[in-house]
Amino acid sequence: ITASPVFPEGFLWGGATAANQVEGAYIEGGKGLSIQDVMPNGILTPRADAPTDDNLKQVAIDFYHRYAEDIALFAEMGFGVYRFSIAWSRIFPQGDESEPNEEGLAFYDRVLDELERHGIQPLVTISHYETPLHLAEQYDGWASRELIGFYERYVRTLFTRYGARVKYWLTFNEINSVLHAPFMSGGINTPKDQLSRTDLYQAVHHELVASALATKIARELAPDAQIGCMVLSMPVYPLTPDPDDVFAALTTDRTNLAFGDIHVRGEYPGYYLRSLREQGVELAITDEDRGLLKENTVDFVSFSYYSSICETVDPDKRDMGEGNLFGGVRNPTLKASEWGWQIDPVGLRLALNSFWDRWQKPLFIVENGLGAKDELVEVDGVPTVVDDYRIAYLQAHLEQVGEAIADGVDLLGYTTWGCIDLVSASTAQLSKRYGFIYVDRNDDGSGSLTRYRKKSFDWYAEVIRTNGASL
Ligand code: BG6
Repeated sequence: ITASPVFPEGFLWGGATAANQVEGAYIEGGKGLSIQDVMPNGILTPRADAPTDDNLKQVAIDFYHRYAEDIALFAEMGFGVYRFSIAWSRIFPQGDESEPNEEGLAFYDRVLDELERHGIQPLVTISHYETPLHLAEQYDGWASRELIGFYERYVRTLFTRYGARVKYWLTFNEINSVLHAPFMSGGINTPKDQLSRTDLYQAVHHELVASALATKIARELAPDAQIGCMVLSMPVYPLTPDPDDVFAALTTDRTNLAFGDIHVRGEYPGYYLRSLREQGVELAITDEDRGLLKENTVDFVSFSYYSSICETVDPDKRDMGEGNLFGGVRNPTLKASEWGWQIDPVGLRLALNSFWDRWQKPLFIVENGLGAKDELVEVDGVPTVVDDYRIAYLQAHLEQVGEAIADGVDLLGYTTWGCIDLVSASTAQLSKRYGFIYVDRNDDGSGSLTRYRKKSFDWYAEVIRTNGASL
């Protein structure tokens, strides 16, 4: 018999969203355009030249006007933390202005007021796939070193304004994804197939330096703040016990682990430098960059977790599957979601253990969840979704989180992705739903935007109320 997992006192339970996927109001309140405004179809199709009306993110789920109602629902579930991002282009509409947009700043003051009223801690992502479009078009996004200065001005503004109210900050969402989705993740306008490896790794370097700079500025302006990096995690298993497969799995794993290593240790690891050399990449790194990285390491490491992948050196066995922004060799032992992402709860325990063993820094799971099609039905006359599949997914993952805590992992909290239905990042669909709260809006833009509690809403409320004992 397995006992119920024991979560530490003060464990932060909650949910996560990103501005561009929930707020809407895409040009209200002085907001400028972001790269998301020209990505009506997510990352799977080329970007548009200008905003198009078929972009669900223009309205998204209208959080900009409904945040009070939504935060009240989060409070009803007992959230202790809510992860959200600040839309850079609400604060600096073009990205390169010298003065911020007061209306944008005031909006997040109101969001923070509402969270405080309900005793919910904010966890703020500074940059979540929503670089101001002007920075993409004018400077080629993070491919340009100039972005560091614009980001610096932006984070100074945030820490000055909200530093006393926000303890937990994440510098870049899934910082490792620039290599895979350069426009969405790094605002890099040049099409991916025209970017060299040097271009991509140089952009990564700029973000890493900016991330360290944010930590430095926080130490000055918001001494109580805790700064974390945020990495897309995807544990890699060898497809077979062939030692070459085992090493290939380590090599692939390191393409993601490197980002944690650099944030925690403050320097590029040897295996990373070797890989750059072998790819013919020569980076422009200044002594000042090195100093910034070394002296401003993170307080904690946060990550998203949806699935694991396999690796093999045998070209005939490379059966590729889908995944969060990038996939990998399919695992023949696992089932997958409707979008082909393989489901692996034990992989989460593995990730937690290996990160803790490796970095000895507090961890925070800031995304996890199942994107699924939901059907709104009536139960006892009340509209709801009977989402037993979502409950099963989260239950299985949280049991493994409990195991990892029992293994000794220091974990600060857990925020499910898309605690309220939102627009998907990769496919820009609303029908790919993650929430405990159903939002009446469809892929064609129709719907009343009314919110309904799903079955998982009560389930999660009970998990939180019992601090995990109900699992
Ligand atoms: C992560 C992102 O990659 O995965 C989120 O940080 C995203 O923005 C989430 O929404 C789930 O991916 P998708 O494509 O199903 O929305």
